[in-house]
Amino acid sequence: MPEIQIMPSILAADMANLEADCRRALEAGADGLHIDIMDGHFVPNISMGPAVVEALSRRLDTHMSVHLMIVRPDLYADRFIDAGADTLLIHIESPCDIRKTLQRIRERGVRSGITVNPGTTASSVLDLMEAGLVDEVLCMTVQPGFGGQSFMADVLPKITEFRHTAPDIDISVDGGIDAETAPRTAAAGANILLAGTFLFRAADMRTAVDTMRKDCEKAWSARPA
Ligand code: DX5
Ligand code: ZN
Repeated sequence: MPEIQIMPSILAADMANLEADCRRALEAGADGLHIDIMDGHFVPNISMGPAVVEALSRRLDTHMSVHLMIVRPDLYADRFIDAGADTLLIHIESPCDIRKTLQRIRERGVRSGITVNPGTTASSVLDLMEAGLVDEVLCMTVQPGFGGQSFMADVLPKITEFRHTAPDIDISVDGGIDAETAPRTAAAGANILLAGTFLFRAADMRTAVDTMRKDCEKAWSARPA
């Protein structure tokens, strides 16, 4: 049975004090860290590379969810796994052999995830889910590339569609997740909440994590069958 998990997206952390800010998130009760990798081609922004994942995984004992927003995730999956990724999320929109890449991630003993942009239909990844190639489906709730954008509510029916198709899979949401939008996605069937700006800018991160978890657990268990 999927469980509610709260993972801060470190794109919104203080980059000049990254280790300390990540520790702050873990001490606030986060279930892991979400690390956004952007190459300036797949998305119009550049963020971090494998060296940052490696440095953080050397210092912190937590689950590292690595989100590859890059053109050729097939060429870099091994590098991020070697760096310490525990979950590796690739995009269905990336121009590479998606099946082979997911299989490779699995072979390396890492959780595999497929990510869909807001405009991409659920049907485009159903065959991968049916083939049992993914442990997690990440529904982008903004156009990928930048933190601090507004949540796109029209993605909610797609989350429900995924949940009906795969009741036991992990479904995550990423982009514009805050105290108000997180429970709406949990009610739709999401169980992993990825949130950057809201959690790192919260006056009290522990309260923000606790409240998000409680409200999502409530919405998740009250959701219609
Ligand atoms: C967007 C990234 C997100 C981003 C979320 O491309 O994948 O993980 O950090 O940021 P917020 O929570 O600020 O919308
Ligand atoms: Zn992300």
